[in-house]
Amino acid sequence: MLRSYGRKMQLSRLLKPFTKVNLTNLFSMRINEGVNKTISSNYITTYYDTKDISLEKEIHTNMLVQEDFLSENEEMSLFHEVDPYMRRLRYEYDHWDNAIHGFRETERRSWNEENQKILNRVKDIAFPPEVPKLAYVHILDLEKKGYIKPHIDAVRFCGNTIAGLSLLSSSVMRLVHDKDKNKYADILLKRRSLYIMKDAIRYEYSHEVLPEAESKFKGQIIPKDRRISIILRNEPNEEDTK
Ligand code: OGA
Ligand code: MN
Repeated sequence: MLRSYGRKMQLSRLLKPFTKVNLTNLFSMRINEGVNKTISSNYITTYYDTKDISLEKEIHTNMLVQEDFLSENEEMSLFHEVDPYMRRLRYEYDHWDNAIHGFRETERRSWNEENQKILNRVKDIAFPPEVPKLAYVHILDLEKKGYIKPHIDAVRFCGNTIAGLSLLSSSVMRLVHDKDKNKYADILLKRRSLYIMKDAIRYEYSHEVLPEAESKFKGQIIPKDRRISIILRNEPNEEDTK
């Protein structure tokens, strides 16, 4: 049943890989080798980094990151429910049509009571009550060396809003405008945070999760480890499913 609902359609097929753009020139940030190995919140005060004022405005309206959305106990509670299943899968690597490298994934419809409560809190923040949510929650396990290439989630399988919880590791998400690669921003996704992206940020910008070697935010190294994200989406617009 899980598969016939379209496990694959919602998962990797949902991702349309973009040609990798080389942003190294644009991102000439200073690297604090060995200094700020951990993320200190007094050093980083905002969760986004962009030089583009119009994108900054767009982020204010359509992208939210809530730090410490999960308590440590809640993080472990979610982890313990998904990990036994994830461990049975093998990490997958680059296929030509894959936007993700070093990952395993699944979908889950029913959760234990405690975890369902957490997911309901996410739904309450991310979606208005009348908006139909996908019944299956997407779970993506990226190994330490794993990363997500730039892509826009297929409109055929996902509506205007994507909400994600980050478990086990912090990471850096990069947004790049689909038609103007000079319009970009980095978003710091701390461990236990919730992010919500919607509308223009969801449709007009590709998102990616940077590999370990590029995992920096405002010049500070963001150490990467195995990361599990738990992602909720709403149902696609009807006209996009035809
Ligand atoms: C995806 C995706 C981001 C994340 O699976 O489409 O972009 O937070 N995931 O894992
Ligand atoms: Mn995505």
